[in-house]
Amino acid sequence: MNLQTKIDDRTVRVCVLGLGYVGLPLAVGFARVGFTVVGLDVDERKVMALQQGKSYIQDVESDDVAALVQNGALKATSDYDVLRQVDAVFICVPTPFDAMKAPDLSFIISAAEGIAPRLQVGQLIVLQSTTYPGTTEEVVLPILERSGLKAGQDFHLAFSPERINPGDKKYGVHNTPKVVGGLTPRCTELACALLSHLFGQVHVVSTPRAAEMTKLLENIFRSVNIALVNELALLSERMGIDFWEVAAAAATKPFGFMPFYPGPGVGGHCIPVDPYYLSWKAREYDFYTKFIELAAEVNQDMPYHVVEKVAAALSDQGQALRGARVLVLGVAFKRDIDDARNSPAGRIIELLLERGAEVQYNDPYVPRYRVGRDVFWREEHVLESVPLTAETLTTSDVVIIIAGHTVYDYDWVVAQAPLVVDTVNATRAVAGRDDKVVRIGAPLPRPGR
Ligand SMILES: NC(=O)c1ccc[n+]([C@@H]2O[C@H](COP(=O)([O-])OP(=O)(O)OC[C@H]3O[C@@H](n4cnc5c(N)ncnc54)[C@H](O)[C@@H]3O)[C@@H](O)[C@H]2O)c1
Repeated sequence: MNLQTKIDDRTVRVCVLGLGYVGLPLAVGFARVGFTVVGLDVDERKVMALQQGKSYIQDVESDDVAALVQNGALKATSDYDVLRQVDAVFICVPTPFDAMKAPDLSFIISAAEGIAPRLQVGQLIVLQSTTYPGTTEEVVLPILERSGLKAGQDFHLAFSPERINPGDKKYGVHNTPKVVGGLTPRCTELACALLSHLFGQVHVVSTPRAAEMTKLLENIFRSVNIALVNELALLSERMGIDFWEVAAAAATKPFGFMPFYPGPGVGGHCIPVDPYYLSWKAREYDFYTKFIELAAEVNQDMPYHVVEKVAAALSDQGQALRGARVLVLGVAFKRDIDDARNSPAGRIIELLLERGAEVQYNDPYVPRYRVGRDVFWREEHVLESVPLTAETLTTSDVVIIIAGHTVYDYDWVVAQAPLVVDTVNATRAVAGRDDKVVRIGAPLPRPGR
């Protein structure tokens, strides 16, 4: 039976390679709509958890995983030989950068090298990891063709970027269109046919590199706009303007404006990483991506600004940062999620420790947090989330709100804490906050006014 027929009657066996934040929801999604899915991951702990019907991703319910595992729709393995028995493979492995901020494609390469000796005639391979334009054709394709099979002829190859937004209750697979660019029109057609079973809308572009560039445009757009409001927030502080008030006012414009908000810096697997993939690749074309570099510079400076703000706020009260007891609220890279990868909280805590502060944190979603691993900060600290009690708040000299989780009772936090530095305007609804809340992007508080 050919692939198109199998796709049409949902007998396609799907493999999702890499079962992280992107791969697990995709595997569960395909299993839910009636496909037989096998998840493949080198991390034995994830494989074991799934085999036991347990989810380790906040957006995926364990009950869903358990039901799908029980009825045989979803399996997990670390054995690459499973690839010989599937019809379609979605590659969802990490794409970090190295210490020099150059793309680290080692995960994509090892995935492709694992597929190549097991590649079957008629298989569809779809790369989903975010990467620079050219990766599918220049890196993945030659490795797969080492099998002796020819792409576009013996097997099908496409790139389809991932748009998952962890923690987002409004947008999911059913209402977020999926972009696809295949190596040949037939590759595109097959990838679209399969993805259409899961995604409400599939948008076709002409090549894998156009699809790769689409994802980068989306992330660079965010990075640049966040940098823009961060810069304006810093200027507003100096000019004595509340930038949050300005952002809310501008957001009332129904056309030609999209609101972005300042914060302690950018984090996660995407915004601080992906733009560098393009600026690195651009150099091959004698091209310098000035917007990307400028945005990264502004966003990277934000954690340093936050620490200066904390030091100044303490100093205004006659206290030094050295020796101060600091409580950080929320180390995830954004509110209401459990992902702390590349979170600005990491750099902020490192800078605070470096300057002699005593730092503790609370995050209901991140029980342990490791800082100080990278090239600058060789001394590693593993912190554990402390209980958020009245005593933890009152005995801290300053509380810094980094991820504005909605579970926090900000009225209570502000009432208990002697001093608060709010980097995300989480205290917006707290009455009388001006007495002790210092905000990024706003003039210094004037108690009593
Ligand atoms: N997390 C997001 O919100 C998000 C959103 C859009 C796009 N992306 C992109 O999707 C890709 C995956 O991101 P993620 O957040 O899911 O990463 P992740 O680290 O959560 O998951 C990746 C998984 O791949 C596994 N893995 C690594 N090498 C492997 C190999 N050779 N064979 C099998 N498994 C392997 C890891 O063990 C891990 O479980 C990245 O390119 C990322 O930029 C992520």
